[in-house]
Amino acid sequence: MAAEAAFYPPNPAVTERAHVKSNEEYKEMYQRSIDDPDSFWSDIADGFYWKQRSTNKHSENLDVRNGRVEVEWMKGSSTNICYNVLDRHVKSGSGSKVAFFWEGNDPADSSKITYEELLKEVCKFSNVLKGKGVKRGDRVAIYLPMIVELVIAMLACARLGAVHSIVFSGFSSDSLAERILDSQAKILITSDGVYRGDKLIPLKDIADGAVEICQKANFELKHCVVVRHCIERMNKDRTNGVANGASSTDAIKWNQSLDLWWHDLMDGADEWCEPEWLDAEDPLFMLYTSGSTGRPKGVLHTCGGYMLWAATTFKYSFDYHEDDVYFCTADIGWITGHSYITYGPLANGATSVLFEGVPTFPDASRYWAIVDKYNVSKFYTAPTAVRALMTFGTEPVKKYKRTSLQVLGTVGEPINPEAWLFYYNVIGDGRCSIADTWWQTETGGHMITTLPGATPMKPGAAGLPFFGIKPVIVNDKNEELHGPCEGYLCIKQSWPGIMRTLFGNHERYEDVYFKPFPGYYYSGDGCRRDESGYYWLTGRSDDVLNVSGHRIGTAEIESALVEHDSVCEAAVVGMDHELKGQALFCFVTLAAGIDFTSELAGQLKQQVRRKVGPFASPDYIQEAPGLPKTRSGKIMRRILRKLAIGSDDHGDISTLADPAVVAQLSKGRSLAIRVAAS
Ligand code: PRX
Repeated sequence: MAAEAAFYPPNPAVTERAHVKSNEEYKEMYQRSIDDPDSFWSDIADGFYWKQRSTNKHSENLDVRNGRVEVEWMKGSSTNICYNVLDRHVKSGSGSKVAFFWEGNDPADSSKITYEELLKEVCKFSNVLKGKGVKRGDRVAIYLPMIVELVIAMLACARLGAVHSIVFSGFSSDSLAERILDSQAKILITSDGVYRGDKLIPLKDIADGAVEICQKANFELKHCVVVRHCIERMNKDRTNGVANGASSTDAIKWNQSLDLWWHDLMDGADEWCEPEWLDAEDPLFMLYTSGSTGRPKGVLHTCGGYMLWAATTFKYSFDYHEDDVYFCTADIGWITGHSYITYGPLANGATSVLFEGVPTFPDASRYWAIVDKYNVSKFYTAPTAVRALMTFGTEPVKKYKRTSLQVLGTVGEPINPEAWLFYYNVIGDGRCSIADTWWQTETGGHMITTLPGATPMKPGAAGLPFFGIKPVIVNDKNEELHGPCEGYLCIKQSWPGIMRTLFGNHERYEDVYFKPFPGYYYSGDGCRRDESGYYWLTGRSDDVLNVSGHRIGTAEIESALVEHDSVCEAAVVGMDHELKGQALFCFVTLAAGIDFTSELAGQLKQQVRRKVGPFASPDYIQEAPGLPKTRSGKIMRRILRKLAIGSDDHGDISTLADPAVVAQLSKGRSLAIRVAAS
């Protein structure tokens, strides 16, 4: 605990050139952002290009008791985010600056693209999309690996005012289809496949599966655009008899009426495309995220506010400077990649590394090899990656110099002090500032963090609110708590980057985020505030799990399990896991006459991987003749969480319809089957 309380001052070398040099300076700016948000953000907006600028102040109602929840920033101003992240820099003379160093899965594969080149490619693909009938407001589903075409595709959508809906390339056919259907996307963009380490992910094959599911649901995509990325290796692997997971006899199947090669379409496409001038409040993108119940939610962000938020948080949280080389290890399929690989860095004219591979291929020093290769100064990763790399010891880290590093960011889950100290002492050699950034898909960008040159750090604490953010901690009675306290983390007033709605379901938006604690935006996270006013995130307070930094709704896993013929009912809880943060523990009630065998457990694991995606793979499955439910039928997950870890302290079980199931499950715990790969 002593380590938790200690303050670590910012790295003096960072402070010296920082945008914000002291805590006092931070406080003064913060106060201004809270007292007069419109003038604060208007000054920031001056640094961007607006076709037309309105003098409208922002408007908001976050209180469901006062009617419809609504947020608007800079409504009436028109702009285009693609213009701001590309054309603006080219016009100011930075066209030859590298936008991305692309580093392939295989260390021998790399390339780079400048701002000028990226603009050209984006214009070409915008024209391709236009030619295929994509218009302002249409949805485009993108299911691509970490290749430059992913950035090109998303920016082309943004240029046209089409709404991109990116689906992480680890999702299954079912999950992809569900997202295509919900968003009613016109076009799907994918690639032949991608190698992660030695393993092929047959993306086209998975996309074909999704297309089939859509067709069965009577939904026809207009086109599937396919990037030719690794088909040569896929074919070679097949010739050499390497099983690569694709189900077709050729490396990929081709559907003549639907599929189009990216390179054929780009060949001869016009190199200039006028951007659509969009209202600041027009939609920019949607991104599905897991909730505690039902289907994934299509979080919708808009153009103007999101642009200001992603750009400003990037600049201050990482203390970005023009000569930085920045490397974020996230996947663009998640919000971190949207805000801190594409929009935030490009809005600042930054040079970034775009990495296709995994941290342990060809060996556990891959990140540090990349850091030295490109002289990375700002590095952003997840605690789960730090913990995984810790298991290899210090040798893979020390093999590389890492002297270019200045700021180390973390995101996705609370970072335990041991991992924080490894990040700080070993990876950062005790001389880098750490930014533990708390935020969510819904918030668009960083909400709570320390500023690298200004705020002292505490290992494990996210820190202090970003400009414009008013966090509050409330109790069960919706009372705001003051001073040091613990409770539910809510936000009191709107900020430019807050999501505006859930696609096609504003009612669910209000129900999930604004009804639990009327008057506030509810994050779904538990939080403690200490005596210095620092915020310590304590994990989700709803039924959302965080496995290796991936947000997973228990309901999604449960519905995958009950789709198996042998399962009548399922309940899934999280249990602490050394590397992944949380692991999935599944309780299943089987149909009459079905025996619980390791073969069945293996099938159930595969079922979840197939229905949701491999990243959601369960660790344990236990047979549950009954589940602990209240008389009204609600499953008491609190009890299941205790049972999963083998604890006998089950708390109050008197409200259960049948308290005897607890003893039964406790007895059956030793028979739970571990299905995790060892
Ligand atoms: O529980 C919090 C956790 O991740 C959730 C948001 O997940 P997602 O929308 O997928 O976005 C992840 C990337 C921003 C939050 O509700 N979380 C995220 N960052 C942190 C965190 N928990 C603690 N500390 C963080 N720095």
